[in-house]
Amino acid sequence: MFYSDELIEEVRSRNDIVDVIGSYVNLKHKGNSYTACCPFHHEKTPSFHVSRERQMYHCFGCGVGGNVFTFLMEHENYSFPEAVEALAERAGVSLPERTMSKEERKKADERSRIKDMNKVTAGYFHYLLKTEHGSAALSYIKDRGIDDETITKFGLGYSDKYSDDLYKYLRSKGFSDEEMLKAGLIKIDEKYGPSDRFWNRVMYPIIDPNNRVIGFGGRVLGDGLPKYINSQDTPVFDKSRNLYGLNLAKKSKRRGIIFCEGYMDVISMHQAGFDNAVASLGTALTVGQVNLIKRYTDSVYLAYDSDEAGTKAALRALQIMREFEMPARVISLKPYKDPDELIQKEGSEAFERRIDEAVSGIMFEIEILEHNYNQNDPQEKTEFQKEAAKCLSRIIEPLERDNYINSVSEKYNIDSKALKEAVTVYGTNRSDNIDTAVFRQQERRGSPDEEKEKQQLKTERVLITWLINDNELIPLIREKLTPDDFADPVYRSVVQMVYDQYAANSVVQPAVIMNHFQSKEEHEKVSSIIQQDFGVEISASEKSGAITDLVKKIKRKSIQKKIDNAGADLSRLKQLMDEKKAIEKISLLLR
Ligand code: UTP
Ligand code: MN
Repeated sequence: MFYSDELIEEVRSRNDIVDVIGSYVNLKHKGNSYTACCPFHHEKTPSFHVSRERQMYHCFGCGVGGNVFTFLMEHENYSFPEAVEALAERAGVSLPERTMSKEERKKADERSRIKDMNKVTAGYFHYLLKTEHGSAALSYIKDRGIDDETITKFGLGYSDKYSDDLYKYLRSKGFSDEEMLKAGLIKIDEKYGPSDRFWNRVMYPIIDPNNRVIGFGGRVLGDGLPKYINSQDTPVFDKSRNLYGLNLAKKSKRRGIIFCEGYMDVISMHQAGFDNAVASLGTALTVGQVNLIKRYTDSVYLAYDSDEAGTKAALRALQIMREFEMPARVISLKPYKDPDELIQKEGSEAFERRIDEAVSGIMFEIEILEHNYNQNDPQEKTEFQKEAAKCLSRIIEPLERDNYINSVSEKYNIDSKALKEAVTVYGTNRSDNIDTAVFRQQERRGSPDEEKEKQQLKTERVLITWLINDNELIPLIREKLTPDDFADPVYRSVVQMVYDQYAANSVVQPAVIMNHFQSKEEHEKVSSIIQQDFGVEISASEKSGAITDLVKKIKRKSIQKKIDNAGADLSRLKQLMDEKKAIEKISLLLR
């Protein structure tokens, strides 16, 4: 390791896990832990737990877990040393210079070079916009009603009409062809060599919530095609996990976040005072983006284009929001095409009214449904009512469901009793109601040997969990089992550390144990031991029996392994056989 154990421990202890994870995930306090929907897998009910006492997190749904370092490694894709460095900086702990491995150095360098290059590029584009070269682009932007303040706020720019202008500029700043290619700023043609990806376009730098330029969108001046070109995904740019405008929207005092489709819409809305607007980056809304905004808000508005494509995209977005239990309302922009047009034509008060009039996702879906059926044909009308009932049956909260049933029955003139009955029928028949936990339990079964090994691991895991939950067991168990008796190498080291920590301080600190493991697999394994909560109160005698059993199982297995490996050493065999017999006499008496 690059840093001493003491230093790593200091960094860890000065970064409270609830604060750190809380800055990424919306944690809810519940009993003695904090819970949230897991940021590492897609789920509807929270199974991600963070414990302040233990300084650990664990997801009972997907099994991820660890301490504050692991979290950053997983969430930010950091290496262990990078996580230590980020948290040291956060807590103001100074670290000695470390020497990275070659590979690491390369990766870290590459990322920071790309970020630097993006920043230099954004600065250059912005500068060009204000020069003679950018005059046409500037008038284009101004003609669309964008003022200077907004231009600066969004760092808008212009890429020159020579197809190697940026290339030459970046060369002069010392960036290599390879780096520019990795950053997605140039293309290299075998015959014609390097050329800029963006030229003669209005440039929109894409800035992440930490204010780093991660990519670009470029719009043609006027009507040419393609209208927009976007940066490809690069080591610093993942379109599915970022949103345009979030760097500003995250600071907004307005309620909720407004999702729209276009860069121009975001800019227009911000200028009109709706500084909580964001847009996806040339793709449909993703799960990663909803996960991202959950940190900043607990409700959203959709202000998607009013054409058919926009409506479809909104329906799909609503589905994702529903899966994340994120309340969503839909803003109607009709008769205008998009928020930009509405604001240009009618101004910000009109938009504010549209926000007030926004309908909930469910009502929007039912409105769309209505148009798909001919309401004058009795059969089609029934079909519509059935579909509406299906829609309503997805609302889990009974009072909320009733309220919607009433609104729908009123609005579409459907008998409310009949509608309620239909909703109940669809609600109970739904196959996707089945809890995913049921599926989880049906995990594949392995061969008998694999099963046995799993059982053994489970025995070891359960015992270690006892030791960590109830430190007073340690002196008793330590007499019966050495770390070597544990078959699993990770568990063996954990037991060694549990014993050492107890010997030193009479307590065990789980999060410190975690510091010693650096791979993801190890972290998951260790965190699952540490987070296991039996959730049952048992009597002292039951506990004595259970633990005696576990100790015996582990010891038997351990001695059997030694016997198998003893070969022809008879005196050793005899000694082992005696030990084996002695196992049956073990009986622990616990208070
Ligand atoms: P729009 O065509 O609605 O563009 O596409 P817009 O942002 O409203 O732009 P203006 O008002 O015409 O200037 C919505 C979004 O879809 C992506 C962009 O992210 C754009 O902002 N898009 C669109 C592309 O990535 N490529 C395209 O060719 C078109
Ligand atoms: Mn538009």
